Amino acid sequence: MRTSALALVGALSALGALGAQTPFQVAQAGAEYATMSHPSFPAHSLRIRNVPGEICEPDARSWSGYLDVDLDKLFERHGNDSIYPQGAAPGDGIVEHFYFWAFESRDAPETDPFTLWLNGGPGCSSFIGLLMELGPCSAAEPLNGMPRVTPNPWSFNSHSNMVFLDQPVGVGFSYASWKNASREDAPPARILDSPSAARDVSAFLHLLNLHAPKPKGQRREFHMAGESYAGRYLPLIAAQVLHDNDAIAQHPQHGIEPLPLASVLIGNGITSPFHQNRANIDYACTNISGDGPFLSNATCAKMEKAWPVCQDLLAKCNADRGNVPYSRTRCSTANTFCEGALSAPWEKTNSSFYDYKHEPDYAEDAWVAAYLNAPKTRAALGVDARGPGDRHDGVFTGCSDQVFADFGTTGDGARDTTWAVAEVLERGVRVLDYSGRRDFICNFVGNARWIDDLEWSGKDGYRSAPLEPWYVDGKRAGEFRHYGNLTFAIVDGAGHFVPHDQPINAHAMFNRWIHPAGVPGRLD
Ligand SMILES: *[C@@H]1O[C@H](CO)[C@@H](O)[C@H](O)[C@H]1NC(C)=O
Ligand SMILES: *[C@@H]1O[C@H](CO)[C@@H](O)[C@H](O)[C@H]1NC(C)=O
Ligand SMILES: *[C@@H]1O[C@H](CO)[C@@H](O)[C@H](O)[C@H]1NC(C)=O
Ligand SMILES: *[C@@H]1O[C@H](CO)[C@@H](O)[C@H](O)[C@H]1NC(C)=O
Ligand SMILES: *[C@@H]1O[C@H](CO)[C@@H](O)[C@H](O)[C@H]1NC(C)=O
Ligand SMILES: *[C@@H]1O[C@H](CO)[C@@H](O)[C@H](O)[C@H]1NC(C)=O
Repeated sequence: MRTSALALVGALSALGALGAQTPFQVAQAGAEYATMSHPSFPAHSLRIRNVPGEICEPDARSWSGYLDVDLDKLFERHGNDSIYPQGAAPGDGIVEHFYFWAFESRDAPETDPFTLWLNGGPGCSSFIGLLMELGPCSAAEPLNGMPRVTPNPWSFNSHSNMVFLDQPVGVGFSYASWKNASREDAPPARILDSPSAARDVSAFLHLLNLHAPKPKGQRREFHMAGESYAGRYLPLIAAQVLHDNDAIAQHPQHGIEPLPLASVLIGNGITSPFHQNRANIDYACTNISGDGPFLSNATCAKMEKAWPVCQDLLAKCNADRGNVPYSRTRCSTANTFCEGALSAPWEKTNSSFYDYKHEPDYAEDAWVAAYLNAPKTRAALGVDARGPGDRHDGVFTGCSDQVFADFGTTGDGARDTTWAVAEVLERGVRVLDYSGRRDFICNFVGNARWIDDLEWSGKDGYRSAPLEPWYVDGKRAGEFRHYGNLTFAIVDGAGHFVPHDQPINAHAMFNRWIHPAGVPGRLD
């Protein structure tokens, strides 16, 4: 029997009737959007609406909408660090709108977990992941100029409710506007870094959890997954969720439960700039991949020479540990230098940064944008007329150059995030880090190394665990190592976009991870 996880439309009248006893605020019946808020998150509210099934997913219900963030209220709550956009002041009335699209599980929406999916960039839309990798439908080459999608039988919503969120603001369909609706100019960009983005996503998940009915007395687990730059976002978001959970636990009178965060999945992520910049040289200049080396001796010699400089700049950027305010100057210097010296040379290979067996570009990027820019799709998805994206021109772009540039000014990409992985592991959140073997930019070598070096209570146990093959349908799919709640996996025959390259194996890995039978963390 199908029951609804996000039974919002069905629940509207029930919640309305409960209005006197609950802190929920729900739209009038018949309103296009249900709106949801909670006093624990005064700056944030959710707008949510039905998406017709013929768009993308005929086999499960889906919802779309916005997380609206009132920056004046956010400022009141958190102070001024990296919150208010430069060129604007508290009281100016900027509201940010984060777009999301959610799908029920095809199997058991009421009891299956929720998984948040985030793409990276920084600045790339999670709808690339949805429509190119792991969503219920995949963008295909337009036919006679008509954008289209095809069903994806290996969608990650086969056994999980899935939520795809465009964050931070300026990404995909997410945008900012003024409370004063007659203002036509685009609000200035918020100067962004991952710690400030994490606050919004944590509030989003808490609000979603509040409004997703579940069987009485049960808790439904949450997972958060993503790839690439999400290797920085996700550990910080997870740490923020736990931090918000602590605050919630201190205020039982608010009637809100801590978010049952069960695990974090990072695919080809960037989490440790120290290990991963160094690994770029080893991946590109040796045969560690089994298909290398890829770059000439002369280029490799230059990279070797640049490494101590990069290492020194990274050390200066990371002199303060953790999530404290940090030097934007030092970090942006490190970011620019290391990227130019140790990533950019890959261009000489004429193959994709994401997969050495793939040409530099992916045709799917244009198919995704064509589908999302089609008036029919946008009407079904309820995309606001203003925005989307940073240019305020109403055109969806897969990756926002503006957001990328903004993150460049803070040097966010040079910051170490391993401390947050250790923190969430110690608090009982399981962590899976997986890597497609053919990816250069966030390669398996660097990921394997930072995980080996991670300072956590299971370090010795992890380091002495064997690297073993894992299998799907009796065939080898890759290798993995695990101890306690930490698992590292390599996916054979895949680049950066693992579910795109190995849909069956990625689907199997995901389902085994979120529905662990037996030993948690094992993939075999
Ligand atoms: C932000 O707050 C700090 C103190 O909390 C203050 O020193 C600083 O001037 C403020 N910056 C701005 C731009 O308001
Ligand atoms: C709203 O914006 C319009 C257009 O910029 C401006 O003329 C008007 O004064 C603004 N209203 C308020 C209350 O600030
Ligand atoms: C790289 O390693 C693979 C697998 O071990 C091997 O088959 C290949 O010959 C090696 N290539 C070079 C250039 O050494
Ligand atoms: C590149 O360096 C390797 C190892 O140092 C050496 O064996 C090889 O001959 C060099 N190739 C060229 C083209 O110089
Ligand atoms: C890459 O492409 C350029 C221009 O098309 C060409 O000159 C060069 O030889 C190619 N390099 C490799 C390694 O294939
Ligand atoms: C692993 O996580 C579970 C929750 O998923 C927790 O109960 C358990 O204590 C954790 N184990 C370790 C070794 O941290």
